[in-house]
Amino acid sequence: MQPQPRYDIYEVIHKALRARLSQTLTSIGKLDVEDDYCVGEAVEEVRTTLAIMRGHLQSENEFVHAAMEARAPGSTRQVAGEHEHHEEDIAVLDDACDALLAAAPSARAARAGRLYFLLELFLRDNLTHMRYEEDHHNAVLWAAYSDEEILAIEAALVAAIPPQKKALLLPCMVPAVPTRDRVKLLRGLQAGMPPEVFAGIYASVASLLDAGERQRLDAAMRAPAPLQAVA
Ligand SMILES: [Fe+2]
Repeated sequence: MQPQPRYDIYEVIHKALRARLSQTLTSIGKLDVEDDYCVGEAVEEVRTTLAIMRGHLQSENEFVHAAMEARAPGSTRQVAGEHEHHEEDIAVLDDACDALLAAAPSARAARAGRLYFLLELFLRDNLTHMRYEEDHHNAVLWAAYSDEEILAIEAALVAAIPPQKKALLLPCMVPAVPTRDRVKLLRGLQAGMPPEVFAGIYASVASLLDAGERQRLDAAMRAPAPLQAVA
């Protein structure tokens, strides 16, 4: 018999971050630097991506690493160092955004080119980093914690994210995952808010999907929620 797969605390958020970083890189790659409005919008997109990444580092440090260190001391050393390095990268990217905004029109193409290069490096580092976490940190978590305990760590992590940051994450997460995970994310949200507030959020995230995806999501959300297994 196949062993039951273990709960992967990184799966959904890392898919969202891969998508967001790739889209941001694309936005800078296709930027019309002669257009002030486009430059302002693109820089705003980069800054939002950086805020998301900063928040993610903080969540992992405070909740995932703390849990790992509690039962497997020293197990987060390598990644903790990489997180410090990523904080520095984020500061450099912020400066590159300032430099692009401050540039004379004739210098904008070069500044946008540098921002693209720095984002590409950051994306590459993060792809390697996230895969390492999925392989090695999950192995530590799975050896030290049950799935119920990992879900409790995740619930505490999510509860600590301020609402403005949650609002940034949802539009990254929903389009980046299959319908079954979209439903889990949205049902979790629906349970904790008035129906009219949820309706607004649902409409805005559904607008990020194509027609077929939206249809499948609507149908899955209309289906009754699966019953919890009773022990
Ligand atoms: Fe990380």
